[in-house]
Amino acid sequence: MKIIGFNGSPRKNGNTKTLMTEMLRGAESAGAEITFIHLPSYHIENCIGCERCRKDKTCTQFFDGMHLLYPLLDEAEGIILGSPTYNYDMTPWMKAFIDRMYPFFDFGEVRPGPYSSRLANRGKKALVFGVCEQVNPEEMTHNITCMRDAIKVIGYEVQDMLAFTGHFKANSAASNAVDLKKAFDAGSAFARSFTVQG
Ligand SMILES: Cc1cc2nc3c(=O)[nH]c(=O)nc-3n(C[C@H](O)[C@H](O)[C@H](O)COP(=O)(O)O)c2cc1C
Repeated sequence: MKIIGFNGSPRKNGNTKTLMTEMLRGAESAGAEITFIHLPSYHIENCIGCERCRKDKTCTQFFDGMHLLYPLLDEAEGIILGSPTYNYDMTPWMKAFIDRMYPFFDFGEVRPGPYSSRLANRGKKALVFGVCEQVNPEEMTHNITCMRDAIKVIGYEVQDMLAFTGHFKANSAASNAVDLKKAFDAGSAFARSFTVQG
C-alpha cells in the first residue's frame, strides 16, 4: 500500500517535517511504501476559480508542480496532510494544494447541485495533523478541522486528526520524545488500518 505525506510548512526542516518523517517511518514499519512531499517546493499556484477543470478534468489554467502530484494522488491509497498553524488555520501552501484538487470533482450542469469526486469510493484514507506554538489545542481547531473536512469531501475516509502543540522553534519537535512516539504510532496505525480491513 502506498502512503504519501504532504508537508505544508515552508520551513524545510521544521516541526511538521520532523513529525511527518516519524509518521512515515511508522507507516513503513507496518509495510507501507512511503513518499514525502514538501509542498512549497512544488510551487503550486492558487486556484483562481476559472472552472475549466469542470470540462477538462484536470487543471488547464496552470502547468505547475501540481501536475506532478495529480497522478500520485490517483495512485496512493493513503495520504497524510501535515500543516503548521498560521493564524489558527492551515498554511497557504496546504490550502493551495487542497484547492487545486478541485479537478477531481465531477459537477452536473445544474448548480448548485449534486457533485461527486473521482477519488471517492476507492478505499482511500487520510490522516491529518497540525502543529502550533501555543499549548491550547483550540489554537489549531480551524487548521485541522478544515483539512479534515476538505479532504473528506474529496473522497478520503479520515482515519485520525492529531494536534501537536507547544512547538515554536523549528527544531522543537525533534527533542520531544512523547510527540515523536505519538507521530510514529499514528503512522503505524494508519498503515495497519489498510491491511486489517483487507
Ligand atoms: C505567520 C505565522 C502565524 C502563526 N500563527 C500561529 C497561531 O495562530 N497559533 C499558534 O499556536 N502558533 C502559530 N504560529 C507558530 C507556528 O505554528 C509554529 O512555529 C510551528 O511549530 C511551525 O511549524 P514548522 O516548524 O513545521 O514550520 C504561527 C507562525 C507563523 C510564522
